[in-house]
Amino acid sequence: MERLNIGLIGWGTVGCGVIEILNSNSEILRKRLGVELYLKRVADIDLEKPRPVDVPMDILTVDANQILEDPDIDIVVELIGGTEPAKTFIRKALERGKHVVTANKALLAVHGNELFDFARKNQRIIAYEASVAGGIPFIKALREGLAANNIDTILGILNGTANFILTRMTETGVSFKDALKEAQERGYAEADPTLDIEGIDTAHKLAIAAAIAFNMPVSFDAVYKEGITNIDPLDIEFGREFGFQLKLLAIARKTSKGIELRVHPTFVPCDHVLAGVRGAYNAVYVHGDAVGNVMFYGLGAGMMPTGSAVVSDIIDLARDITHGASVRIPPLGSYEVEEAELKPIDELETSYYFRFSAVDQPGVLSKISGILGKYNISISAVIQKGRHVGGAVPIVMITHEAVEKAVRKALDEIDRLDVVRAKTQLVRIENLSGNGI
Ligand code: NDP
Ligand code: HSE
Repeated sequence: MERLNIGLIGWGTVGCGVIEILNSNSEILRKRLGVELYLKRVADIDLEKPRPVDVPMDILTVDANQILEDPDIDIVVELIGGTEPAKTFIRKALERGKHVVTANKALLAVHGNELFDFARKNQRIIAYEASVAGGIPFIKALREGLAANNIDTILGILNGTANFILTRMTETGVSFKDALKEAQERGYAEADPTLDIEGIDTAHKLAIAAAIAFNMPVSFDAVYKEGITNIDPLDIEFGREFGFQLKLLAIARKTSKGIELRVHPTFVPCDHVLAGVRGAYNAVYVHGDAVGNVMFYGLGAGMMPTGSAVVSDIIDLARDITHGASVRIPPLGSYEVEEAELKPIDELETSYYFRFSAVDQPGVLSKISGILGKYNISISAVIQKGRHVGGAVPIVMITHEAVEKAVRKALDEIDRLDVVRAKTQLVRIENLSGNGI
Protein backbone atom coordinates (compact mmCIF):
# COMPACT_ATOMS: atom_id res chain seq x y z
CA MET A 1 0.00 0.00 0.00
CA GLU A 2 1.57 3.28 -1.10
CA ARG A 3 -1.10 5.71 -0.12
CA LEU A 4 -4.23 6.03 1.97
CA ASN A 5 -7.14 7.98 0.56
CA ILE A 6 -8.91 10.44 2.77
CA GLY A 7 -12.30 12.04 2.22
CA LEU A 8 -13.05 15.12 4.31
CA ILE A 9 -16.60 16.38 4.90
CA GLY A 10 -16.74 19.96 6.23
CA TRP A 11 -14.37 22.60 4.84
CA GLY A 12 -14.84 24.85 7.87
CA THR A 13 -12.53 25.98 10.67
CA VAL A 14 -11.24 22.54 11.67
CA GLY A 15 -11.44 21.17 8.13
CA CYS A 16 -9.10 23.96 7.00
CA GLY A 17 -6.68 23.11 9.82
CA VAL A 18 -6.62 19.47 8.75
CA ILE A 19 -6.03 20.35 5.08
CA GLU A 20 -3.27 22.77 6.03
CA ILE A 21 -1.46 20.16 8.14
CA LEU A 22 -1.82 17.43 5.51
CA ASN A 23 -0.32 19.84 2.97
CA SER A 24 2.44 21.45 4.96
CA ASN A 25 3.58 18.36 6.87
CA SER A 26 3.05 15.80 4.09
CA GLU A 27 6.71 14.81 3.92
CA ILE A 28 7.09 14.40 7.69
CA LEU A 29 3.90 12.36 7.78
CA ARG A 30 5.01 10.15 4.90
CA LYS A 31 8.29 9.43 6.70
CA ARG A 32 6.49 8.66 9.96
CA LEU A 33 3.94 6.38 8.33
CA GLY A 34 5.69 4.86 5.38
CA VAL A 35 2.63 5.69 3.25
CA GLU A 36 1.26 8.87 1.74
CA LEU A 37 -1.88 10.45 3.21
CA TYR A 38 -3.74 11.56 0.12
CA LEU A 39 -6.67 13.97 0.39
CA LYS A 40 -8.85 12.57 -2.37
CA ARG A 41 -12.00 14.61 -1.91
CA VAL A 42 -13.40 17.45 0.18
CA ALA A 43 -17.15 18.01 0.55
CA ASP A 44 -18.90 21.13 1.78
CA ILE A 45 -22.34 22.53 1.13
CA ASP A 46 -20.96 25.96 0.30
CA LEU A 47 -18.04 26.07 -2.12
CA GLU A 48 -18.24 29.83 -2.67
CA LYS A 49 -17.48 30.97 0.88
CA PRO A 50 -13.92 32.35 1.30
CA ARG A 51 -11.75 29.93 3.32
CA PRO A 52 -8.34 30.42 4.90
CA VAL A 53 -7.04 27.30 3.11
CA ASP A 54 -7.50 26.56 -0.60
CA VAL A 55 -8.47 23.22 -2.06
CA PRO A 56 -8.01 22.27 -5.76
CA MET A 57 -11.36 22.68 -7.55
CA ASP A 58 -11.29 19.17 -8.99
CA ILE A 59 -11.45 17.50 -5.55
CA LEU A 60 -14.25 19.71 -4.20
CA THR A 61 -17.86 18.58 -4.14
CA VAL A 62 -21.11 19.68 -2.53
CA ASP A 63 -22.21 16.06 -2.24
CA ALA A 64 -20.83 14.09 0.72
CA ASN A 65 -22.01 10.88 -0.96
CA GLN A 66 -19.20 11.23 -3.44
CA ILE A 67 -16.93 10.49 -0.49
CA LEU A 68 -19.12 7.96 1.28
CA GLU A 69 -19.74 5.94 -1.88
CA ASP A 70 -16.19 6.06 -3.21
CA PRO A 71 -14.75 2.55 -2.71
CA ASP A 72 -11.19 3.91 -2.84
CA ILE A 73 -11.59 6.14 0.21
CA ASP A 74 -10.13 4.48 3.31
CA ILE A 75 -10.79 7.15 5.96
CA VAL A 76 -13.74 9.54 6.20
CA VAL A 77 -13.20 12.67 8.28
CA GLU A 78 -16.49 14.18 9.50
CA LEU A 79 -16.11 17.85 10.41
CA ILE A 80 -19.54 19.33 9.82
CA GLY A 81 -20.73 19.13 13.44
CA GLY A 82 -24.28 18.66 14.75
CA THR A 83 -26.38 15.52 14.87
CA GLU A 84 -27.76 15.17 11.36
CA PRO A 85 -26.63 14.54 8.71
CA ALA A 86 -23.35 13.87 10.55
CA LYS A 87 -24.71 10.71 12.19
CA THR A 88 -26.04 9.31 8.92
CA PHE A 89 -22.74 10.10 7.18
CA ILE A 90 -20.76 8.30 9.88
CA ARG A 91 -23.01 5.22 9.79
CA LYS A 92 -22.85 5.13 6.01
CA ALA A 93 -19.05 5.38 6.06
CA LEU A 94 -18.74 2.55 8.61
CA GLU A 95 -21.21 0.36 6.69
CA ARG A 96 -19.12 0.81 3.59
CA GLY A 97 -16.01 -0.37 5.42
CA LYS A 98 -14.37 2.99 6.01
CA HIS A 99 -12.82 4.14 9.27
CA VAL A 100 -14.09 7.45 10.61
CA VAL A 101 -12.43 10.41 12.30
CA THR A 102 -14.68 13.00 13.92
CA ALA A 103 -14.37 16.00 16.23
CA ASN A 104 -18.10 15.97 16.86
CA LYS A 105 -18.49 15.79 20.63
CA ALA A 106 -22.13 16.93 20.46
CA LEU A 107 -22.91 13.85 18.41
CA LEU A 108 -20.77 11.42 20.42
CA ALA A 109 -22.02 12.66 23.79
CA VAL A 110 -25.60 11.80 22.85
CA HIS A 111 -25.27 9.03 20.23
CA GLY A 112 -21.78 7.76 21.00
CA ASN A 113 -22.88 4.49 22.59
CA GLU A 114 -24.96 3.60 19.53
CA LEU A 115 -22.29 4.70 17.04
CA PHE A 116 -19.47 2.90 18.86
CA ASP A 117 -21.61 -0.25 18.85
CA PHE A 118 -22.26 0.15 15.16
CA ALA A 119 -18.55 0.65 14.46
CA ARG A 120 -17.70 -2.47 16.46
CA LYS A 121 -20.26 -4.53 14.52
CA ASN A 122 -18.71 -3.31 11.29
CA GLN A 123 -15.18 -3.95 12.59
CA ARG A 124 -14.30 -0.32 11.96
CA ILE A 125 -12.99 2.49 14.14
CA ILE A 126 -14.46 5.84 15.09
CA ALA A 127 -11.54 8.00 16.22
CA TYR A 128 -12.42 11.13 18.14
CA GLU A 129 -9.32 12.72 19.69
CA ALA A 130 -10.37 16.26 18.75
CA SER A 131 -13.72 15.93 20.46
CA VAL A 132 -12.29 16.59 23.93
CA ALA A 133 -9.81 19.36 24.78
CA GLY A 134 -9.00 20.36 21.19
CA GLY A 135 -5.28 20.08 20.53
CA ILE A 136 -4.45 18.24 23.78
CA PRO A 137 -4.05 14.49 23.19
CA PHE A 138 -6.38 13.79 26.09
CA ILE A 139 -8.33 10.83 24.70
CA LYS A 140 -5.06 9.08 23.91
CA ALA A 141 -3.82 9.82 27.40
CA LEU A 142 -6.96 8.41 29.02
CA ARG A 143 -7.33 5.35 26.81
CA GLU A 144 -3.67 4.46 26.52
CA GLY A 145 -1.23 6.44 28.65
CA LEU A 146 -3.28 6.08 31.84
CA ALA A 147 -4.79 2.67 31.08
CA ALA A 148 -2.99 1.12 34.05
CA ASN A 149 -4.86 3.28 36.55
CA ASN A 150 -8.02 3.16 38.54
CA ILE A 151 -9.00 6.76 37.80
CA ASP A 152 -11.08 8.59 40.39
CA THR A 153 -11.07 12.23 39.23
CA ILE A 154 -11.15 14.30 36.07
CA LEU A 155 -11.29 17.99 36.75
CA GLY A 156 -10.60 20.94 34.51
CA ILE A 157 -11.36 23.58 31.95
CA LEU A 158 -12.68 22.02 28.76
CA ASN A 159 -14.19 24.90 26.83
CA GLY A 160 -11.92 27.44 25.19
CA THR A 161 -14.72 29.89 24.42
CA ALA A 162 -16.02 30.08 27.99
CA ASN A 163 -12.51 30.34 29.38
CA PHE A 164 -11.67 33.04 26.86
CA ILE A 165 -14.79 35.00 27.85
CA LEU A 166 -14.14 34.68 31.60
CA THR A 167 -10.49 35.64 31.12
CA ARG A 168 -11.39 38.75 29.12
CA MET A 169 -14.08 39.75 31.62
CA THR A 170 -11.69 39.25 34.54
CA GLU A 171 -8.61 40.89 33.08
CA THR A 172 -9.91 43.64 30.85
CA GLY A 173 -13.45 44.19 32.08
CA VAL A 174 -14.94 43.79 28.57
CA SER A 175 -18.59 42.84 28.45
CA PHE A 176 -19.71 39.24 28.10
CA LYS A 177 -21.13 40.06 24.65
CA ASP A 178 -17.90 41.57 23.29
CA ALA A 179 -15.78 38.73 24.63
CA LEU A 180 -18.09 36.18 22.99
CA LYS A 181 -17.90 38.02 19.68
CA GLU A 182 -14.10 37.93 19.81
CA ALA A 183 -14.12 34.18 20.59
CA GLN A 184 -16.39 33.60 17.57
CA GLU A 185 -14.10 35.63 15.31
CA ARG A 186 -11.15 33.51 16.42
CA GLY A 187 -12.97 30.28 15.45
CA TYR A 188 -13.21 28.93 19.01
CA ALA A 189 -16.97 28.95 19.38
CA GLU A 190 -19.43 26.32 18.19
CA ALA A 191 -21.76 27.16 15.30
CA ASP A 192 -24.34 27.64 18.07
CA PRO A 193 -22.39 29.43 20.84
CA THR A 194 -25.14 28.60 23.35
CA LEU A 195 -23.40 25.24 23.63
CA ASP A 196 -20.24 26.98 24.84
CA ILE A 197 -21.72 29.54 27.21
CA GLU A 198 -24.38 27.28 28.76
CA GLY A 199 -21.84 24.60 29.70
CA ILE A 200 -23.30 22.11 27.22
CA ASP A 201 -20.14 21.72 25.14
CA THR A 202 -18.14 21.19 28.34
CA ALA A 203 -20.70 18.59 29.43
CA HIS A 204 -20.43 16.82 26.06
CA LYS A 205 -16.67 16.53 26.59
CA LEU A 206 -16.97 15.50 30.23
CA ALA A 207 -19.47 12.76 29.36
CA ILE A 208 -17.05 11.30 26.79
CA ALA A 209 -13.99 11.56 29.04
CA ALA A 210 -15.79 10.13 32.09
CA ALA A 211 -17.02 7.15 30.06
CA ILE A 212 -13.41 6.25 29.25
CA ALA A 213 -12.09 6.96 32.74
CA PHE A 214 -14.81 5.05 34.61
CA ASN A 215 -15.57 2.21 32.13
CA MET A 216 -19.13 3.42 31.80
CA PRO A 217 -21.41 4.32 28.87
CA VAL A 218 -21.38 7.90 27.64
CA SER A 219 -23.94 9.50 29.97
CA PHE A 220 -24.48 13.07 28.82
CA ASP A 221 -27.98 13.38 30.35
CA ALA A 222 -26.55 12.60 33.77
CA VAL A 223 -24.17 15.57 33.72
CA TYR A 224 -25.35 18.52 35.83
CA LYS A 225 -24.92 21.63 33.65
CA GLU A 226 -24.78 25.29 34.47
CA GLY A 227 -23.26 27.91 32.15
CA ILE A 228 -21.68 31.32 32.55
CA THR A 229 -24.51 33.49 31.20
CA ASN A 230 -25.74 34.47 34.68
CA ILE A 231 -22.31 35.51 35.89
CA ASP A 232 -22.22 39.15 36.87
CA PRO A 233 -18.84 40.96 36.73
CA LEU A 234 -19.57 41.81 40.38
CA ASP A 235 -19.14 38.15 41.31
CA ILE A 236 -15.80 37.95 39.56
CA GLU A 237 -14.74 41.03 41.52
CA PHE A 238 -16.04 39.82 44.91
CA GLY A 239 -14.56 36.39 44.33
CA ARG A 240 -11.19 38.01 43.85
CA GLU A 241 -11.53 39.79 47.19
CA PHE A 242 -11.86 36.36 48.79
CA GLY A 243 -8.85 35.07 46.84
CA PHE A 244 -10.78 33.21 44.15
CA GLN A 245 -10.81 33.17 40.36
CA LEU A 246 -13.88 32.12 38.40
CA LYS A 247 -13.63 29.21 35.95
CA LEU A 248 -16.15 27.02 34.16
CA LEU A 249 -15.10 23.62 35.48
CA ALA A 250 -15.89 20.11 34.37
CA ILE A 251 -15.74 17.68 37.27
CA ALA A 252 -16.11 13.89 37.21
CA ARG A 253 -15.33 12.28 40.53
CA LYS A 254 -15.81 8.84 42.06
CA THR A 255 -17.18 9.17 45.59
CA SER A 256 -18.53 6.68 48.11
CA LYS A 257 -22.05 7.81 47.08
CA GLY A 258 -21.55 7.37 43.34
CA ILE A 259 -19.98 9.28 40.49
CA GLU A 260 -20.35 13.05 40.35
CA LEU A 261 -20.65 14.49 36.84
CA ARG A 262 -21.00 18.26 36.87
CA VAL A 263 -20.23 21.39 34.91
CA HIS A 264 -20.70 24.79 36.51
CA PRO A 265 -18.94 28.09 37.15
CA THR A 266 -16.58 27.45 40.03
CA PHE A 267 -14.34 29.55 42.21
CA VAL A 268 -10.82 28.18 42.46
CA PRO A 269 -8.06 29.63 44.63
CA CYS A 270 -6.22 32.45 42.81
CA ASP A 271 -2.88 30.80 43.51
CA HIS A 272 -3.95 27.46 42.02
CA VAL A 273 -2.54 26.59 38.61
CA LEU A 274 -6.04 26.38 37.09
CA ALA A 275 -6.56 30.05 37.92
CA GLY A 276 -3.67 30.86 35.60
CA VAL A 277 -5.20 29.05 32.61
CA ARG A 278 -6.09 31.94 30.34
CA GLY A 279 -7.82 32.54 27.03
CA ALA A 280 -8.77 29.57 24.87
CA TYR A 281 -6.44 27.27 26.79
CA ASN A 282 -7.81 24.11 28.36
CA ALA A 283 -6.31 22.38 31.36
CA VAL A 284 -7.47 19.14 32.84
CA TYR A 285 -6.32 17.06 35.76
CA VAL A 286 -6.67 13.34 36.10
CA HIS A 287 -6.05 11.48 39.31
CA GLY A 288 -5.19 7.81 39.04
CA ASP A 289 -4.32 5.43 41.87
CA ALA A 290 -0.91 4.64 40.44
CA VAL A 291 0.13 7.81 38.67
CA GLY A 292 -1.24 10.32 41.18
CA ASN A 293 -2.16 13.67 39.62
CA VAL A 294 -1.36 14.46 36.02
CA MET A 295 -2.32 17.64 34.27
CA PHE A 296 -2.81 18.30 30.56
CA TYR A 297 -2.61 21.82 29.21
CA GLY A 298 -2.91 23.32 25.76
CA LEU A 299 -5.16 25.06 23.28
CA GLY A 300 -8.63 23.57 23.47
CA ALA A 301 -9.99 25.09 20.29
CA GLY A 302 -9.09 26.74 17.00
CA MET A 303 -8.24 25.69 13.48
CA MET A 304 -4.67 24.40 13.85
CA PRO A 305 -4.72 22.88 17.38
CA THR A 306 -7.92 20.98 16.58
CA GLY A 307 -6.55 20.06 13.16
CA SER A 308 -3.54 18.60 14.96
CA ALA A 309 -5.79 16.27 16.96
CA VAL A 310 -7.77 15.19 13.90
CA VAL A 311 -4.61 14.43 11.93
CA SER A 312 -3.23 12.46 14.88
CA ASP A 313 -6.29 10.20 14.57
CA ILE A 314 -5.70 9.84 10.83
CA ILE A 315 -2.11 8.84 11.63
CA ASP A 316 -3.23 6.22 14.18
CA LEU A 317 -5.69 4.79 11.68
CA ALA A 318 -3.08 4.77 8.93
CA ARG A 319 -0.74 2.80 11.21
CA ASP A 320 -3.50 0.32 12.07
CA ILE A 321 -4.55 -0.09 8.45
CA THR A 322 -1.03 -0.58 7.11
CA HIS A 323 -0.25 -3.14 9.84
CA GLY A 324 -3.51 -5.02 9.43
CA ALA A 325 -4.74 -4.34 12.96
CA SER A 326 -8.53 -4.12 12.98
CA VAL A 327 -9.84 -2.63 16.21
CA ARG A 328 -6.79 -2.41 18.46
CA ILE A 329 -8.40 -0.24 21.14
CA PRO A 330 -12.13 -0.48 21.91
CA PRO A 331 -13.91 2.87 21.44
CA LEU A 332 -14.15 3.69 25.14
CA GLY A 333 -10.92 1.88 25.96
CA SER A 334 -12.65 -1.09 27.62
CA TYR A 335 -14.32 -4.33 26.48
CA GLU A 336 -16.62 -4.24 29.49
CA VAL A 337 -18.48 -0.97 29.73
CA GLU A 338 -20.89 -1.05 32.67
CA GLU A 339 -23.58 1.30 34.00
CA ALA A 340 -22.31 3.14 37.07
CA GLU A 341 -24.06 4.55 40.12
CA LEU A 342 -24.31 8.31 39.68
CA LYS A 343 -24.51 10.84 42.48
CA PRO A 344 -27.20 13.49 41.98
CA ILE A 345 -26.19 17.14 42.35
CA ASP A 346 -28.54 17.42 45.38
CA GLU A 347 -26.11 15.29 47.35
CA LEU A 348 -23.04 17.33 46.50
CA GLU A 349 -21.08 18.59 49.49
CA THR A 350 -18.94 21.62 48.81
CA SER A 351 -18.34 25.22 49.88
CA TYR A 352 -20.41 28.00 48.39
CA TYR A 353 -20.23 31.67 47.54
CA PHE A 354 -23.54 33.50 47.95
CA ARG A 355 -24.30 37.06 46.90
CA PHE A 356 -27.52 38.25 48.49
CA SER A 357 -29.17 41.46 47.31
CA ALA A 358 -30.79 42.85 50.42
CA VAL A 359 -32.03 46.18 51.71
CA ASP A 360 -29.53 47.97 53.92
CA GLN A 361 -31.21 47.92 57.32
CA PRO A 362 -30.53 46.48 60.78
CA GLY A 363 -31.35 42.82 61.32
CA VAL A 364 -31.06 41.70 57.67
CA LEU A 365 -27.85 39.78 58.20
CA SER A 366 -29.28 37.94 61.20
CA LYS A 367 -32.40 36.93 59.26
CA ILE A 368 -30.25 35.49 56.48
CA SER A 369 -27.78 33.77 58.78
CA GLY A 370 -30.67 32.41 60.88
CA ILE A 371 -32.05 30.57 57.86
CA LEU A 372 -28.62 29.31 56.87
CA GLY A 373 -28.14 28.02 60.43
CA LYS A 374 -31.50 26.22 60.30
CA TYR A 375 -30.24 24.26 57.30
CA ASN A 376 -26.91 23.51 58.91
CA ILE A 377 -24.96 25.82 56.61
CA SER A 378 -22.03 27.35 58.38
CA ILE A 379 -20.59 30.70 57.30
CA SER A 380 -16.83 31.04 57.01
CA ALA A 381 -16.59 34.66 55.80
CA VAL A 382 -18.89 37.55 55.04
CA ILE A 383 -18.56 41.02 53.54
CA GLN A 384 -21.21 43.63 53.04
CA LYS A 385 -20.66 46.35 50.50
CA GLY A 386 -22.17 49.77 51.06
CA ARG A 387 -22.67 49.90 47.31
CA HIS A 388 -26.27 50.05 46.12
CA VAL A 389 -27.16 47.79 43.20
CA GLY A 390 -30.76 48.22 42.06
CA GLY A 391 -31.91 49.59 45.43
CA ALA A 392 -30.19 46.85 47.42
CA VAL A 393 -26.73 46.19 48.77
CA PRO A 394 -24.73 43.05 48.06
CA ILE A 395 -23.98 40.82 51.05
CA VAL A 396 -21.39 38.25 50.08
CA MET A 397 -20.79 35.05 52.06
CA ILE A 398 -18.52 32.08 51.82
CA THR A 399 -19.66 28.90 53.53
CA HIS A 400 -17.95 25.86 54.92
CA GLU A 401 -18.88 22.59 53.25
CA ALA A 402 -22.64 22.21 52.99
CA VAL A 403 -25.06 19.86 51.24
CA GLU A 404 -26.48 21.21 47.96
CA LYS A 405 -30.05 20.14 48.77
CA ALA A 406 -29.96 22.11 52.02
CA VAL A 407 -28.40 25.08 50.25
CA ARG A 408 -31.21 25.12 47.69
CA LYS A 409 -33.88 25.02 50.40
CA ALA A 410 -32.18 27.76 52.39
CA LEU A 411 -31.80 30.06 49.38
CA ASP A 412 -35.38 29.46 48.40
CA GLU A 413 -36.48 30.62 51.87
CA ILE A 414 -34.06 33.55 51.92
CA ASP A 415 -35.16 34.76 48.49
CA ARG A 416 -38.72 34.97 49.80
CA LEU A 417 -37.75 37.34 52.64
CA ASP A 418 -39.20 40.82 52.16
CA VAL A 419 -35.74 42.34 52.72
CA VAL A 420 -34.24 40.39 49.82
CA ARG A 421 -34.60 42.14 46.48
CA ALA A 422 -33.25 39.69 43.89
CA LYS A 423 -32.49 36.03 43.42
CA THR A 424 -29.36 35.09 45.34
CA GLN A 425 -26.31 34.34 43.24
CA LEU A 426 -24.64 31.02 44.03
CA VAL A 427 -21.20 29.88 42.90
CA ARG A 428 -19.69 26.61 44.07
CA ILE A 429 -16.15 26.66 45.39
CA GLU A 430 -13.70 23.88 44.68
CA ASN A 431 -11.17 23.39 47.42
CA LEU A 432 -8.26 22.12 45.37
CA SER A 433 -5.62 21.94 48.03
CA GLY A 434 -6.49 18.71 49.88
CA ASN A 435 -5.58 16.05 47.30
CA GLY A 436 -2.60 17.72 45.70
CA ILE A 437 -4.63 19.03 42.76
P1 NDP B 1 -17.51 25.09 10.95
O1 NDP B 1 -18.91 25.54 11.03
O2 NDP B 1 -16.42 26.09 10.83
O3 NDP B 1 -17.34 24.06 9.74
C1 NDP B 1 -18.32 23.12 9.37
C2 NDP B 1 -18.36 23.10 7.84
O4 NDP B 1 -19.19 22.02 7.42
C3 NDP B 1 -18.96 24.39 7.27
O5 NDP B 1 -18.19 24.84 6.19
C4 NDP B 1 -20.35 23.94 6.83
O6 NDP B 1 -20.85 24.71 5.77
C5 NDP B 1 -20.06 22.52 6.39
N1 NDP B 1 -21.25 21.68 6.35
C6 NDP B 1 -22.35 21.73 7.12
N2 NDP B 1 -23.21 20.76 6.75
C7 NDP B 1 -22.66 20.10 5.72
C8 NDP B 1 -23.06 18.99 4.91
N3 NDP B 1 -24.24 18.40 5.07
N4 NDP B 1 -22.22 18.56 3.94
C9 NDP B 1 -21.03 19.16 3.73
N5 NDP B 1 -20.60 20.22 4.48
C10 NDP B 1 -21.40 20.67 5.46
O7 NDP B 1 -17.27 24.16 12.23
P2 NDP B 1 -15.89 23.79 12.92
O8 NDP B 1 -14.89 23.48 11.91
O9 NDP B 1 -15.59 24.79 13.97
O10 NDP B 1 -16.31 22.47 13.70
C11 NDP B 1 -16.39 21.23 13.07
C12 NDP B 1 -16.53 20.14 14.13
O11 NDP B 1 -15.39 20.18 14.95
C13 NDP B 1 -17.72 20.32 15.06
O12 NDP B 1 -18.21 19.06 15.42
C14 NDP B 1 -17.11 21.00 16.28
O13 NDP B 1 -17.82 20.74 17.46
C15 NDP B 1 -15.78 20.32 16.31
N6 NDP B 1 -14.73 21.03 17.01
C16 NDP B 1 -14.46 22.35 16.69
C17 NDP B 1 -13.43 23.01 17.30
C18 NDP B 1 -13.08 24.41 16.98
O14 NDP B 1 -12.16 24.93 17.60
N7 NDP B 1 -13.74 25.06 16.05
C19 NDP B 1 -12.60 22.33 18.31
C20 NDP B 1 -12.96 20.95 18.57
C21 NDP B 1 -13.99 20.35 17.93
P3 NDP B 1 -21.68 26.05 6.16
O15 NDP B 1 -20.73 26.94 6.88
O16 NDP B 1 -22.09 26.59 4.84
O17 NDP B 1 -22.80 25.60 7.03
N1 HSE C 1 -16.29 25.51 21.07
C1 HSE C 1 -15.31 24.67 21.65
C2 HSE C 1 -14.51 25.46 22.68
C3 HSE C 1 -14.39 24.16 20.58
O1 HSE C 1 -14.61 26.68 22.70
O2 HSE C 1 -13.80 24.84 23.45
C4 HSE C 1 -13.47 23.12 21.09
O3 HSE C 1 -14.14 21.97 21.42
